[in-house]
Amino acid sequence: MSRCEKGNILIVGSGIVGRSWAILFASAGYRVILYDTVHQQVTTALEHIRQQLNELERNGNLRGTLTSKEQMDLISTCSNLAQAIEGAVFIQECVPENLELKREVFHELDDLMNDDVILSSSTSCILPSKLFSDLKHVKQCIVSHPVNPTYYIPLVELVPHPETHPAVLEQTYTLMKDIGQSPVKLAKEIDGFVLNRIQYAIIGESWRLVKDGVLSPDDVDLVMSAGLGMRYAFMGPFETIHLNAEGLKNYCERYDEGMQRVLSSFGPVPEFSGEVMEKINQTMSQKTSPNPESLNARRLWREAHLAALAKLKSDNK
Ligand code: NAI
Repeated sequence: MSRCEKGNILIVGSGIVGRSWAILFASAGYRVILYDTVHQQVTTALEHIRQQLNELERNGNLRGTLTSKEQMDLISTCSNLAQAIEGAVFIQECVPENLELKREVFHELDDLMNDDVILSSSTSCILPSKLFSDLKHVKQCIVSHPVNPTYYIPLVELVPHPETHPAVLEQTYTLMKDIGQSPVKLAKEIDGFVLNRIQYAIIGESWRLVKDGVLSPDDVDLVMSAGLGMRYAFMGPFETIHLNAEGLKNYCERYDEGMQRVLSSFGPVPEFSGEVMEKINQTMSQKTSPNPESLNARRLWREAHLAALAKLKSDNK
């Protein structure tokens, strides 16, 4: 299996995530072919990408050494899958999160792909064993789960199928590094992958704190944005505890008992509905009304903050 040279990247599905991948690959000099079954989607995607690249350039946030025009010139479209796959070294699937649909797409690709190309899925939570089992090229398949907005949140979770060739995991890791992302390699598949397992643990305890009347929804969010999140933008939980005592071992000696006691007091998995949901929803809706305009405006606010944070982190490297 050859290493991923700068070659064609085929993106299957040109919605939110397909467009984001296209920009990331082009920023690192890869040729990108966008394929979608809905013609209008590809046209819209190209326009979105053009606007986004121009804006990134205007704001001084454009990645890589190429201009926005040079990056745009690397992105093209193709409406025939058999032609689109020719010369591809890596395929990133980005169709909606629906197992049946994804499996249909993989079977089509399985018949067209050669023995070198890597087939990667953007799925947020479907296990590789559900997605890829029974494909002829199962050894060449992997999940590469990005985090939105991918331009400013570089994490990519790489999740192999039990039969994925180790070289495929390594090549995908190298490719993700090459486009400036921060990949992590899961040794085996696990429900929720890793980011969502950790995120759900936080959501679960946050929910219980509101349910038990300990804290208001606003204040729970403040604990993260003004507390834990301040550190977590730069370091994880292990480095945090390493620095919060005379090293990690010392932290465990000092706080093991307390951690055991507090963790054992956590309640059961909450139901994410009913009165508690109404209460949290009311607070969130006061902050940002759940209509498309307000949500989009708040998303832009979030992107601007993430862009500034990404710049700070890159300047500090
Ligand atoms: P989307 O709905 O915005 O885009 C899906 C695109 O796939 C559409 O353009 C649609 O026309 C196209 N499509 C449908 N059937 C197709 C087919 N048979 N062949 C080719 N194209 C086809 O979906 P989105 O949000 O981009 O999600 C794509 C994948 O990425 C999902 O698996 C999702 O779970 C995952 N993901 C989404 C994130 C997000 O924040 N939106 C973040 C991380 C992963």
